[in-house]
Amino acid sequence: MAKSPMDTLQLSYIQIAIAFLLFAQAKSTTEHTSTPQPNDTNTACIASERSALLAFRAGLSDPANLLSSWKGDDCCGWKGVYCSNRTGHVVKLDLQGSGYTIDSDSRKVLAGNISSSLLGLQHLRYLDLSFNEFDKMQIPEFIGSLHKLRYLDLSMSMFIGRIPPQLGNLSNLQYLDLRSSYQDRDIHDGTYSTDIMWLSRLTSLEHLDMTYVDLSAIVHWLPVVNMLPTLKFLFLTSCQLRTSPESLQLSNLTSLETLFLVGNQFHQRSTPNWFWDLTSLKYLDISYNGFYGPFPDEIGNMTSMVELHLSANSLVGMMPSNMKNLCNLEVLYSYTSNINGSITELLHR
Ligand SMILES: *[C@@H]1O[C@H](CO)[C@@H](O)[C@H](O)[C@H]1NC(C)=O
Ligand SMILES: *[C@@H]1O[C@H](CO)[C@@H](O)[C@H](O)[C@H]1NC(C)=O
Ligand SMILES: *[C@@H]1O[C@H](CO)[C@@H](O)[C@H](O)[C@H]1NC(C)=O
Ligand SMILES: *[C@@H]1O[C@H](CO)[C@@H](O)[C@H](O)[C@H]1NC(C)=O
Ligand SMILES: *[C@@H]1O[C@H](CO)[C@@H](O)[C@H](O)[C@H]1NC(C)=O
Ligand SMILES: *[C@@H]1O[C@H](CO)[C@@H](O)[C@H](O)[C@H]1NC(C)=O
Ligand SMILES: *[C@@H]1O[C@H](CO)[C@@H](O)[C@H](O)[C@H]1NC(C)=O
Repeated sequence: MAKSPMDTLQLSYIQIAIAFLLFAQAKSTTEHTSTPQPNDTNTACIASERSALLAFRAGLSDPANLLSSWKGDDCCGWKGVYCSNRTGHVVKLDLQGSGYTIDSDSRKVLAGNISSSLLGLQHLRYLDLSFNEFDKMQIPEFIGSLHKLRYLDLSMSMFIGRIPPQLGNLSNLQYLDLRSSYQDRDIHDGTYSTDIMWLSRLTSLEHLDMTYVDLSAIVHWLPVVNMLPTLKFLFLTSCQLRTSPESLQLSNLTSLETLFLVGNQFHQRSTPNWFWDLTSLKYLDISYNGFYGPFPDEIGNMTSMVELHLSANSLVGMMPSNMKNLCNLEVLYSYTSNINGSITELLHR
């Protein structure tokens, strides 16, 4: 018997309803696993993960008693520990220290050793150990084996030595912050990398901060960065970079919005330069680099620009008239440059 049009109609309604249900379920699943909520703790803690956390804690020194809640069975309720309420696995560990404050007695930081027992948390997607005091310790290589990580923040925690290339195994990583904390001391006391090929494997990366990491041994850094097509935020401030290529033949960096190249040692003409072709840029800071030459005409093409920092270079001459194309520009810093001419004309432009 042939189906009546009405039956067909009902059938497709049901199919649509089912599709919606499946979609809604898939959506809530991904939301819960990718951004665990602090209240997602109504699942019992997995015993092997509790042991891993306790072994990790045993290696730490915790003078401010930050981890006093780390007792009892329900590790999903411990400070800084977040479990998926779907699977019960620990998916997020947020142990950010309090950083530097004026009242140094009240600093709340962790120190000591980072135990490889962390590897017991194989479902970890988010790890933040920033602003602690792992003084004179290297970033552990085993972190590269937490292969589900999407978010990794190891910044400002007084790590020293080579950045382990094993981090290149974290192919799901979207956010990587390796800011080094030794900015006031000799940079060689902080972290360094002599070969950044490992970075090119992080093809989902959107945010990369290597501020104060010593990259002075690396000449061809740009082709590596150019392998990261999803990059939106790139911070390479005070990395002792010496080369900034004049152009990038095939730019992958079409999503890049924020580029900080402050305080490197380029000492070359400001133009031509690869970053003037990145017309998607909204924030560009190339201060303190020894760039010289006339104020670059290319600026007129960067119509998305919101903030432009050019200070403390040796740019000369008048701002180009095409700067009037930069309708979104809100901030222009250009102190200690040799821009001459009339201030009225400059403001007009
Ligand atoms: C958890 O939920 C309760 C009640 O909904 C709320 O009062 C509390 O602030 C939440 N805790 C966190 C850490 O979000
Ligand atoms: C997970 O927790 C959230 C927020 O507490 C809740 O809305 C959701 O229904 C829970 N999901 C499951 C599968 O228990
Ligand atoms: C960290 O490891 C070193 C060397 O194994 C050891 O001497 C030190 O006591 C450990 N620190 C803590 C807090 O366990
Ligand atoms: C991780 O990376 C290192 C160095 O890049 C490599 O030798 C090793 O085989 C990788 N391990 C895995 C499991 O992929
Ligand atoms: C652009 O990125 C992809 C993915 O990393 C890479 O395979 C490709 O070689 C890159 N293109 C260039 C010109 O570097
Ligand atoms: C601006 O962009 C156009 C089109 O891409 C190009 O032809 C021109 O040379 C650029 N101007 C400057 C000053 O770079
Ligand atoms: C501004 O500086 C340029 C380059 O040094 C020079 O050629 C020009 O005459 C100067 N203009 C004014 C108005 O001082």
